[in-house]
Amino acid sequence: VTRSVVVGTGSYLPDRIVTNDDLAKFVDTSDEWIVQRTGIRQRHIVAEGQATSDLAVAAATRAMAAAGVGPDDIDLVLVATSTPDNTFPATATQVQAKLGILRGAAFDLQAVCSGFVYGMTVADSLIRTGVAKRALVIGAETFSRLLDWEDRTTCVLFGDGAGAVVLEAAGGEGTIADRGVLTSHLRADGRHGDKLYVDGGPSTTGTVGHLRMEGREVYKFAVGAVTDVIEDAFAAAGITADDLDWFVPHQANRRIIEASAKKLGIAAEKTVLTVDRHGNTSAASIPLALDAAVRDGRIQRGQLVLLESMGGGFTWGAVLVRW
Ligand code: ACO
Repeated sequence: VTRSVVVGTGSYLPDRIVTNDDLAKFVDTSDEWIVQRTGIRQRHIVAEGQATSDLAVAAATRAMAAAGVGPDDIDLVLVATSTPDNTFPATATQVQAKLGILRGAAFDLQAVCSGFVYGMTVADSLIRTGVAKRALVIGAETFSRLLDWEDRTTCVLFGDGAGAVVLEAAGGEGTIADRGVLTSHLRADGRHGDKLYVDGGPSTTGTVGHLRMEGREVYKFAVGAVTDVIEDAFAAAGITADDLDWFVPHQANRRIIEASAKKLGIAAEKTVLTVDRHGNTSAASIPLALDAAVRDGRIQRGQLVLLESMGGGFTWGAVLVRW
């Protein structure tokens, strides 16, 4: 049985850090309000002239170094993003070119904050069906470019960054890979499209637009949706919360993460939290958190890691990986 195995992680955060106090200088907010409601203390914001593909390339370069692979070894570049460099070509093709990769496929995937979970599922499927052998799965976002910086209800929540993993085929004829992506579960419900969206686009307004959100509605939906899909993943893999080593959720809001973990019976010390330092980086948040926990030695080979996210669409999903 061929499985796809994570063999390297990498991430990149822009240099510029914006604290809650910095935001309070131009919108009516406070460090206390933001920390209490979201757990966010700071976020990184891109520099002028820095594009999503630049962040993606920096993260991917680190993931490839960690995996010990070069441009000739990659035959799929998948970039999960809602903030592409251009409407087309895909940011993934720009990343492919900047990394000197000359073979295989490259495309973007749009599932907003669930982009990385969707992307892992798609890359895993392409590897297991033999279409690709070794993939770069990247979540990269410059949400600062979509924010209405006069709207305190949204601009305090998001940050920029990128994370990447190298996923490769393992196992094969006569053998069974003992690790890799074990099970994936994806969901969408487009009836909620108006609760978290961008009010622009090429085929409607012809503008880039700004992020708009009914925060309370998103919050109400999030915990139930996330716990449902994780229960499906547990059932499919025949495990319980106690079997997990690490829970690496999308980092939107500390309260959503803690409420989901509690409802599922996942011990607090198994949760990887970066939202305090990164804010919500949409599709980049899970690979950023994964890379942090791999590099500081928390996530170890052989451990059971649960990825989960929920975002605009609504879209949501869970992926269980034996690391
Ligand atoms: N600073 C100070 N006050 C604020 C701010 C701010 N930045 N933003 C809103 N307020 C005010 C509101 O105007 C309101 O004032 P009012 O009572 O005078 O009308 C008050 O705070 C309460 O506002 P609510 O929106 O009801 O606050 P709530 O407790 O719901 O918290 C939040 C808002 C943090 C957005 C919450 O709803 C939330 O976390 N929602 C989930 C949204 C999310 O995480 N989205 C990310 C994308 S989706 C995803 O990734 C899962």
